[in-house]
Amino acid sequence: MARVLAIESSCDETACAVVDGMLVRSSVVASQVEIHARFGGVVPELASRHHLDAITLVIREAIREAGLSPTALAEELDALAVTDSPGLVGALLVGVQAARGLALATNLPLFGVHHMEGHLFSAFLGDDRRAPEPFAPHLALLVSGGHTELVEVRGLGDYEILGATRDDAAGEAFDKVAKLLGLPYPGGPIIDHLAEEGNPEAVELPRAMLASPNFDFSFSGLKTAVAVHLDRHGQPRSRAELCDLCASFRAAVVDVLVAKACRARAERGLDRLHVVGGVAANAGLRARFEAAAAEQGFRLVAAPLRYCGDNAAMIAAAAAARVDAGCEPAVEVDASVAIDDPRLHISRVARAP
Ligand code: KG4
Ligand code: ZN
Repeated sequence: MARVLAIESSCDETACAVVDGMLVRSSVVASQVEIHARFGGVVPELASRHHLDAITLVIREAIREAGLSPTALAEELDALAVTDSPGLVGALLVGVQAARGLALATNLPLFGVHHMEGHLFSAFLGDDRRAPEPFAPHLALLVSGGHTELVEVRGLGDYEILGATRDDAAGEAFDKVAKLLGLPYPGGPIIDHLAEEGNPEAVELPRAMLASPNFDFSFSGLKTAVAVHLDRHGQPRSRAELCDLCASFRAAVVDVLVAKACRARAERGLDRLHVVGGVAANAGLRARFEAAAAEQGFRLVAAPLRYCGDNAAMIAAAAAARVDAGCEPAVEVDASVAIDDPRLHISRVARAP
């Protein structure tokens, strides 16, 4: 299996990792969360500057942790990889330029990787040598701060998007509701934590598009419903009230994600369902998917917790699969904000109302 070093800098994590196929030899992530927290969200200009500050150190650390020699990378690696799309363009450029520099110095092939494809590979990552399951076919629910997509994975680079959010991404909804509640950024993990103590039936909230025949999602109405609830009742007066509201909100998101993902899996006749992306770390979501898998008899693979959020191991794994399949990298790697990618076959189902 190919040994690949990859860099990821598409948003607010500066990351570098070394993998042997799906086996992670090192994975270093420098998070900028604290820098952006005081602004309530990611500030692109600050993200670029902090990537520049962190990138050399992060690469050095990933090389050291993997037990590689910084002066013999050309012999010890098969390829290099970098997230080149989509993302904040200034942030992507830092990773792309660092990767190009490494490629120039080592003469190793450099693969540009689509961030979404990276997340699809996160479900296969591990720290032991067990043979991973075949990549395709499976149904993936990709839920992060920027994505909410149901993807039928047909093969390497062959993805059919069955449905996506029509407004906010699931993670974005968590972050925006946290802001309404005066909780710090990113709100997802905090709401998840508070929800564990609350009653999910305490506050009635909408489940948008739950019954619609398509596989699309919508979360902005849910956010508005929380805002209306706060207007009427004021901010929670006790921790118990706060936990109840968090639990009710989490249940509303989870209900729709689980129901639609399970229906899509069954309709497509796929026996494996993967849950990936930052929101895949959600304890409520994982528990509900586990229950559904036991009840409906399908195989559930939730990305390991440490690879749910942005990391470079998933980017390296996507490139390692390409090397193993005998693919050649593009001549030039450049940063792009486009979601569509000429290297991938991304199709979409026709939209039902
Ligand atoms: O995949 P990721 O690190 O970055 C993107 O590609 O967007 O996802 C970050 C998102 C944030 O919106 C964050 O609030 C959310 O994932 N998140 C969670 C949890 N952990 C992270 N949302 C719900 N529950 C969690 N436990
Ligand atoms: Zn991501």
